Amino acid sequence: MAKIILIGLGLALVVTVLMVVIGNLAVERTNPPVTHTINWDSPETERLVRAACFDCHSHETRWPWYAHVAPVAFLLADDVSNARREMNFSTGYHLDVDEMVEKIENGEMPLPNYLMLHPEANLSAEQKAQLIAGLRTTFRGSFQGFRRGSDPQGATGEGSEQGEAEGDD
Ligand code: HEC
Repeated sequence: MAKIILIGLGLALVVTVLMVVIGNLAVERTNPPVTHTINWDSPETERLVRAACFDCHSHETRWPWYAHVAPVAFLLADDVSNARREMNFSTGYHLDVDEMVEKIENGEMPLPNYLMLHPEANLSAEQKAQLIAGLRTTFRGSFQGFRRGSDPQGATGEGSEQGEAEGDD
């Protein structure tokens, strides 16, 4: 009996070590340089955005310990790379305030499963209103750093991707 338990524990240990090794070797957890400076309208806006959005939409991700363990490591790295590809505060990529506000109001962002482990990102109605007002003032409805089309203002609608981005709200 004791032998079986020992073998079981040994196996569990081996599996755990393997998951950590795989999680570390197979997954890139990068934080590339920050190349875009945002002039936040207030420190409070910056604090809220950092708490609720920066782990995914920036190069200042706080990678948690479980981001080193497979298979969670794969899911997290995937979320972060998809999020950075859509919108990135650290590069100024596609900072479209209307889309941000829409996602916050619909409760789509921050991703609901993220909130379970990050209570500081679970904003109250009051904090959401404050965040939205702050984002609006900071970005003033413009496409700051918009890089999908050839026109940095996003005004002429050149390029199909840009049309798509503007069309989905
Ligand atoms: C846990 C990671 C995570 C957090 C935190 C997070 N996002 Fe996202 N976000 C994503 C992912 C992944 C996508 C792309 C896939 C999708 O739309 O679900 C995305 C997409 C978006 C998009 C869509 C961009 C486009 O072009 O369609 C917006 C806007 C957005 N997020 C805003 C926010 C805002 C604002 C916050 C903070 C209040 C936030 N997100 C927090 C992961 C996150």
